[in-house]
Amino acid sequence: MEESRIAQPIGIALDRFIKNNQEQFQYASGELSQLLRDIALASKVVNREINKAGLIDIMGAMGSQNSGGENQQKLDVLANIRFTRALSKGGEACALISEETESYVDLNNDGKYVIAIDPLDGSSNIDVNVSIGTIFSIYRRISPVGTPIQPEDILQKGTDQVAAGYILYGSSTMLVYTTGHGVNGFTYESTLGEYFLSHADLRMPPDGKIFSINEGQSLSFAPGVAKYLDYCKQNGFTARYIGSLVADFHRNMLKGGIYIYPATAKDKNGKLRLMYECNALAFIAEQAGGLATDGKNRIMEIKPSTLHQRVPFYVGSRMMVEKAGSFLN
Ligand code: AHG
Ligand code: MN
Ligand code: MN
Repeated sequence: MEESRIAQPIGIALDRFIKNNQEQFQYASGELSQLLRDIALASKVVNREINKAGLIDIMGAMGSQNSGGENQQKLDVLANIRFTRALSKGGEACALISEETESYVDLNNDGKYVIAIDPLDGSSNIDVNVSIGTIFSIYRRISPVGTPIQPEDILQKGTDQVAAGYILYGSSTMLVYTTGHGVNGFTYESTLGEYFLSHADLRMPPDGKIFSINEGQSLSFAPGVAKYLDYCKQNGFTARYIGSLVADFHRNMLKGGIYIYPATAKDKNGKLRLMYECNALAFIAEQAGGLATDGKNRIMEIKPSTLHQRVPFYVGSRMMVEKAGSFLN
């Protein structure tokens, strides 16, 4: 049954929106709201740094590698620092896991929440002035508050998320999030330094005609993926692939489409991370009426066994994800 939602006027400021909706959250004690505010604040700092990236020395590679063996960019590291600082100050979070950090960061034993984050998504687009993003998931800890954090607090399924969202640093900067009561999008007004509601109760079209996949790797796709791509072409679909998951996802959510990062010969489980990228976008997709699978299984029901686990990812309009899945089985 569709729950009734409080109508929110376009233009309402994010802070006010969070406050108005706090009672929707079952543990409504204000800590989750504070975490969302902290994320919004850190994103403004990151946004400012991104906007002047060409003018100061923050473009290019760090010369180091992240947990997955990928070359870190300076902005990857900077964004990781900004979000870590913002989320550790208030004491609401007991642990942070990040794509950029090998192990979890232990924050405050009295904190109730665990945060998973891809601080900078779309690293290859940083230096060329193309849209990039941040992706986050928030979980409630399982072990008792006040005790050291446990593996079960960290390795939770997507269905355990209490909130998830992304920031898209694009032609405008947007924050999109869900707490399990639909999806709302906020646009950043930089002269006021505030996010305002611009996309209330976002719904993903049930079907669409955009497919987003790195076809350069098509020779190493499974036959079913190749057949689905043939189907897309035979039906006059449009290919759109930015190479920043957040941007590709956001476009497809608004216009109707599917994003696929399948298993490849090089990456047997695909490239994307279950805990930093897929779970958050799966939660948002489902809340907007879309779907997210690994080709067969619902993403949010996959029990993670390691922090940096990768998974094939099919996300977007419901009918398109179902159709793609039918070619795989
Ligand atoms: P990140 O920059 O956080 O490592 O993520 C990059 C991801 C995702 O954003 C994008 O869709 C995908 O990698 C692109 O990969 P390919 O270059 O292999 O297509
Ligand atoms: Mn990413
Ligand atoms: Mn990243």
